[in-house]
Amino acid sequence: MTQKTFPLSVERLEELARLYPTPFHLYDESAIRKNVRRLKDAFAWNPGFREYFAVKATPNPYLMKILKGQGFGMDCSSLPELLLCEKIGVTGESVMFTSNDTPAEEFAKAKEMEANINLDDISHIPFLEKACGLPELVCCRWNPGPLKGGNAIIGKPEEAKYGFTREQLVEGYRLLKEKGVKRFGIHTMVASNELNPQYFIDTAEILFDLMLEISRSVGIAFEFANIGGGIGIPYKPEQDAVDLERVGEGVRLSYDRHVAAGLAPFRLYTECGRMVTGPYGWLVARVRHIKRTYKTYVGLDACMANLMRPALYGAYHHISVPAKADRPADMLCDVTGSLCENNDKFAIDRRLPAVEPGDLLVIHDAGAHGHAMGFQYNGKLRSAELLLREDGSVVPIRRAETVEDYFATLDFEGLKTFQA
Ligand SMILES: Cc1ncc(COP(=O)(O)O)c(C=O)c1O
Repeated sequence: MTQKTFPLSVERLEELARLYPTPFHLYDESAIRKNVRRLKDAFAWNPGFREYFAVKATPNPYLMKILKGQGFGMDCSSLPELLLCEKIGVTGESVMFTSNDTPAEEFAKAKEMEANINLDDISHIPFLEKACGLPELVCCRWNPGPLKGGNAIIGKPEEAKYGFTREQLVEGYRLLKEKGVKRFGIHTMVASNELNPQYFIDTAEILFDLMLEISRSVGIAFEFANIGGGIGIPYKPEQDAVDLERVGEGVRLSYDRHVAAGLAPFRLYTECGRMVTGPYGWLVARVRHIKRTYKTYVGLDACMANLMRPALYGAYHHISVPAKADRPADMLCDVTGSLCENNDKFAIDRRLPAVEPGDLLVIHDAGAHGHAMGFQYNGKLRSAELLLREDGSVVPIRRAETVEDYFATLDFEGLKTFQA
């Protein structure tokens, strides 16, 4: 069981919503810092352990700066994410570049930044070489295929588009070595939002087996193994958070066994996003309308442009009504946004305390893959992001978009002389 909490009192929340129009995302700095320590402690047995925060989860430079201060590297998947890292002074091997279907200029930028480049396919070896020359260190992403069971979001590994097969990895590392690459890393990520700790231990075990095999057959030593992200969070109150200590201990036992069997000691990396910031971010929205037809609809001033996961994956996000927390949840409703898409619903058949227009609702666990997935379809604008600092103050870390932002890519001057 996980208690769904919100870090502000009802009065403080109302005050904040007067200052910053809803909807907005709010993140809790001290909770993020506490969680970071848990993750680092779980893997402290590995002297080179490093988490590379998956920037795509919450690409906000203020949050990234906090994580950088905790020793995290950054995992990027695109040129803008690389540039974001550069802006906060994260470069070199503090960057992991795990991309797929990658354009040449993104490889070139990653190489210029001396990032760890993680290749998604064997054909990317000559592609990278042609684009900008091979760096001294190269990492390759393994897709274990049928060796590993699937997961609802990422799908079955053998049907996922990511990574090399085992045979391609052997051939790929051999080729990289022949071409003069001196330093090697390996990566895998086969789960998303996985709550079973054993899943990560088993993944590490098969990855370490493969490392031993490749080290021997190709004659290389791996400097690091990146076991990816995908650690889930308890979106539903009846779920439990992943026992990180158990994951850390299980991976340690596997690591020790493999090192005893001849695998050269290596640094362990993770690239989690969701578990780092997810539970410590909330989407705050106000009830705009209550509509009663065949069902009861609670219409918010937020929509799937602010949090797409329920519409995209049918994902559960807990919703609370802080000012009515002590009332019975006797209103059965769908909680909707205003987009012209019938799947623009934060919840279907959810029981809430009887709400009215003007009430503030809190949508939990929106701190990762939340604001980041925002889009402008239907002319819906992305909301602000606020940070609750450790001293209790709240600071804006991203303003809300304006109509000018929406129009920014259009040339209205050109329109004046455009003949229709
Ligand atoms: C390559 C890669 N690394 C890391 C992550 C982060 O995953 P999560 O936020 O579930 O930990 C993702 C998520 O899409 C990913 O694609």
